[in-house]
Amino acid sequence: MCGIVGFTGEQSAAPILLDGLKKLEYRGYDSAGIAVMDHGCISVNKVTGRIANLCEKTKDGTAVPGAAGIGHTRWATHGAPTEENAHPHLSNDGRFAIVHNGIIENYLSLREELIKDGYHFDSETDTEVIVHLIEMYYKGDMRDALIRTTNRLRGSYALGVICSEEPGKLYAVREASPLILGVGVDENYFASDVTALVNYTRNVIYLEDGEFAELSGNSVKVFDCLGKPVEKKVSRILWDVQAAEKGGYEHFMLKEIMEQPGAVKATISPRIKDGKIVFEELKLTAKDLLRIRKIVITACGSAYYAGCAAKYALEKISHIPVEVELASELRYSDPMIDNHTLLIVISQSGETADTIAALKEAKARGARTLAIVNVVGSTVAKLADNVVYTWAGPEIAVATTKGYTTQVAVLCMLSVWFADMMGIEDENYPKYVKELQALPRMIQHAIDMNSSIPALAKKYHDSKSLFFIGRNTDYAVSLEGALKMKEISYLHSEAYAAGELKHGTIALIEEHTPVIALCCNPAIMEKTLSNIVEVKSRGAEVLALTFRNNQKIVSVADDLMFIPKVDPLFSAVVEIVPLQLLAYYVAKENGCDIDKPKNLAKSVTVE
Ligand code: AGP
Repeated sequence: MCGIVGFTGEQSAAPILLDGLKKLEYRGYDSAGIAVMDHGCISVNKVTGRIANLCEKTKDGTAVPGAAGIGHTRWATHGAPTEENAHPHLSNDGRFAIVHNGIIENYLSLREELIKDGYHFDSETDTEVIVHLIEMYYKGDMRDALIRTTNRLRGSYALGVICSEEPGKLYAVREASPLILGVGVDENYFASDVTALVNYTRNVIYLEDGEFAELSGNSVKVFDCLGKPVEKKVSRILWDVQAAEKGGYEHFMLKEIMEQPGAVKATISPRIKDGKIVFEELKLTAKDLLRIRKIVITACGSAYYAGCAAKYALEKISHIPVEVELASELRYSDPMIDNHTLLIVISQSGETADTIAALKEAKARGARTLAIVNVVGSTVAKLADNVVYTWAGPEIAVATTKGYTTQVAVLCMLSVWFADMMGIEDENYPKYVKELQALPRMIQHAIDMNSSIPALAKKYHDSKSLFFIGRNTDYAVSLEGALKMKEISYLHSEAYAAGELKHGTIALIEEHTPVIALCCNPAIMEKTLSNIVEVKSRGAEVLALTFRNNQKIVSVADDLMFIPKVDPLFSAVVEIVPLQLLAYYVAKENGCDIDKPKNLAKSVTVE
């Protein structure tokens, strides 16, 4: 995810900005830049790649004079990772520079409007509209210009702004993207993450959504969105520097689990406009979709399980038959794929060797291709005819969490979009849209409802084997739940379709064998309940995942995890969250290296 830093004081700003940017490197980025103000002029330096390149370009900052400035690390979303797209962005008249984290959802219409008004754009980013709006609205009063500008923006933004006519001043704005002010002695700072500040000050002010700040070397003023001054409390950071690099979490995996409400929101909300699902990035027409006889989804690991989970929504809502194939199998299977097939390829990294090979194979057979990818500009994204990016931000832990949930979210949205594009009249359309919009909130509820998971982990962490069972989407989520458990805790865990147990696996159930039973689909609840009774009568210890008021399951299970009520077609996005937490806490109990499990790599670039 992008990172922001800002400094004003008496010292030279550039070396401090570069140091702050280095502290933000762990978040992942593909370009970086700084803008420094000196004697009424703003100088901008940007590079692609590492901060080291920026240090080289600016001679560790010594070549850039000035005591106030802003810096940024960019993780590309809108536009490739190039110097032009890197931040800071300058206004046409050179008087303003900005850095931005987040996504401006209405940037296309603002861009058109600004072009009509004579502004020219140097980048493909959503961010650049902001700096031109500031230039347009600035009439000698930055606060007024910021209020007018932010009134025009939809989406999420943390902004750092400098204006050459206001020497020594920094402006910081927060809306749905973190931004923290650092209070020093004769110098002040801001950053998207305390990591960048702790070397300089431990006194911080947390901005709230809708607030903005004006900083100079000796003052920090905070205002609400109407420009009224706000009294803020100065808090003291007690974390050590290393902990802060994980945003205060012990592991990246836990941080990424907790980031899921925001990641799923960033993926879903820009694609819902006026109650309609829109995929502006797709080149598929109604005619193209009506020619498709089947969808083949291919991927590896969790991305494959995301496809398994979404198959139900895709078939039910879009009425197109769906096959889900492991990429490593599909590539050597002489697959029945032709120009009436839509191949959907899923990959967080976009660099998985088997996935790339399967995509190439399908293209060679004439399939239309659509990639769901997190890393912008990756190989899969470049090869596919169509790309839908998940906006999960960089995922550092090897075990995917927000990568998976954002992939399933995109597939659920595609089911509804395909149906609508093909002219399928569905009275449930508004309900589907509402359910999709509610998913980030439901994930947060699922996190909040399961504070007992660390205690459950203490009970189950030394089990020999764990079995995950469920039916339909519950089964698909079981597959991902079992994978999470085995890859980070090294416990043997397997997922079975609940109805399959009695065809063999039940032989393995003995006194106290843990069975994790997923029961989140009311239509088939009774069936899974029978399977729970079967394993219980052979001594199994049942840990059920269900709704809080589901008395039938609550009364029969030994232990419980909960999710809020969600349409079973989309519930995989929420159901997986307690299972991720369970795997995390079991691994923690077992003293495992959670972020870097043995034998595993984040991106599997070999066959
Ligand atoms: C999941 O936790 C794993 N890290 C792994 O299964 C992963 O999902 C798989 O290797 C696919 O990676 P990709 O999404 O980057 O293609």
